[in-house]
Amino acid sequence: MAEQEWWRSAVIYEVYPRSFSDGSGDGVGDLAGVRERLGYLADLGVDALWFTPWYRSPMADGGYDVQDYRTIDPAFGTLADAEALVREALEHGIRTIVDVVPNHVSSEHPWFRDALAAGPGSPERQRFWFRPGRGEHGEVLPTTWVSNFAGTTWTRTADEHGRPGEWYLHLFSPEQPDLNWEHPDVRAEHEDVLRFWFDRGVAGVRIDSAALLVKDPTLPEVPPSPGPGEHPHEDRDDLHDVYRAWRRLADTYSPPRVLVGEVWLADSSRFARYLRPDELHTAFNFDLMARPWAAGPLRESIDLTLAAHRDVGAPATWVLSNHDVTRPVTRYGRVDTGFSFAAKRFGTPTDLDLGLRRARAASLLVAALPGSLYIYQGDELGLPEVEDLPDELRSDPMHARSGGVDPGRDGCRVPLPWSGDAAPFGFSPDGVQPWLPQPEDWKALTVERQLADPDSTLVLYRRTLRTRRAEPDLHSADLRWLDAGPDVLAFARGGIACVVNLGSAAVPLPAHDGVLLASAAFDGSALPPDTAAWLRLPEGVRIDT
Ligand code: NOJ
Repeated sequence: MAEQEWWRSAVIYEVYPRSFSDGSGDGVGDLAGVRERLGYLADLGVDALWFTPWYRSPMADGGYDVQDYRTIDPAFGTLADAEALVREALEHGIRTIVDVVPNHVSSEHPWFRDALAAGPGSPERQRFWFRPGRGEHGEVLPTTWVSNFAGTTWTRTADEHGRPGEWYLHLFSPEQPDLNWEHPDVRAEHEDVLRFWFDRGVAGVRIDSAALLVKDPTLPEVPPSPGPGEHPHEDRDDLHDVYRAWRRLADTYSPPRVLVGEVWLADSSRFARYLRPDELHTAFNFDLMARPWAAGPLRESIDLTLAAHRDVGAPATWVLSNHDVTRPVTRYGRVDTGFSFAAKRFGTPTDLDLGLRRARAASLLVAALPGSLYIYQGDELGLPEVEDLPDELRSDPMHARSGGVDPGRDGCRVPLPWSGDAAPFGFSPDGVQPWLPQPEDWKALTVERQLADPDSTLVLYRRTLRTRRAEPDLHSADLRWLDAGPDVLAFARGGIACVVNLGSAAVPLPAHDGVLLASAAFDGSALPPDTAAWLRLPEGVRIDT
């Protein structure tokens, strides 16, 4: 495959900088910490890093409330640190993808400050969605839209005397006012931000909330069951022009820069429209993550995904988790193994041993599928969700805005354990308290411990990624299903087969010439439950796809 098309089968590691490694010793992860650990990432075998936002931010939503897209938040370092990181990562053969957040800005962004100060009817307010309220005194919200973080999407402004005024729109928290993508300044500014980072050598951008930017300017209510293109603030048809312009810009670079969309859409054909040849290169496929740990639903998701991508000539992506969702080890240890935001609740019974076993099998499954693969930091260590954080340390607006019913996303964002027998486990210098506390039993999950254990999850990930890179058959664009029974996922790609047993009894393996990898120990003949293996097919047998 052409080097320029690296993104078609890349392994991309998501760095949540606050929780990766603390180089400055203040309890918060930072860019210096990442620079010190580039060797670890190269040894893991990843092709690129995606950094969640590292820009100046009041951190009302973990950095997704950007105050200045061209400055690094002082907690993380400086622009020079970011430039050095991009350069040094490349020296390790690792590309960098940065996050861009075009749907909204921080309420501390100069544009929003100016809009508040300038008042109703001003040009400054046109860059956002300010509206008078309904009702006699403007006290009724302009619409009854529901925020992605629960509650309303509108907050009322007040003038300097505290008199209530217009309302402004925020699909997320009030600290994240939505931009008006009808406005030429908004489009020009974001293209300039893209140039700013592309000029610094980043390989591409991950686009936050990519299907939400454009709104129906008449701001109608959401219909009871909106058809394609009918939702007033999701997946609007006009949005595609924005990405066509971004693609033209990305293509002016050599090598062309890559656009990765965060697109949460249930309809796979609407999803695929973002991946037409003149739009985004890839988008996160969240369908698989939402599915329960069962052969039928997973196979259906894989087929649906591959078919939707085939139609537009784009590679699929495989995503088991990220900084927004429950860690797979915890999710797969529950009765309900699929992911949904609505189902996140405190006190769900969990079998972590079972969850880890399944998460390891799932990691072999996704690494064998055609397309690119995303790994969220800490999944390679088999970290579970931390569920017992004290409420006062939870900083996620999802927790606060749900009235404490939703645990929020802090539990998947706990700082990584690197070494030693006690917190902070090498994340920060000894004696420094990390910004979120690490469980004591993570001493068994440190990088140091796992590197010394040939059966550890980290060693499994390293071997998996090394094998994936070394086997040309795993770089093809398709797969062929093998018949292995209703509770088994089995498919071939050239001379390699991947078999995953999701049932409750061991199953015989197809004829093979050797086991390349297995997610759990077994005798080489029957594959135990909740286990995956990669097999070398017999000499002379190739199953071309
Ligand atoms: C998606 C991001 O992944 C999430 O962390 C954030 O809260 C929302 N977009 C809003 O920016």
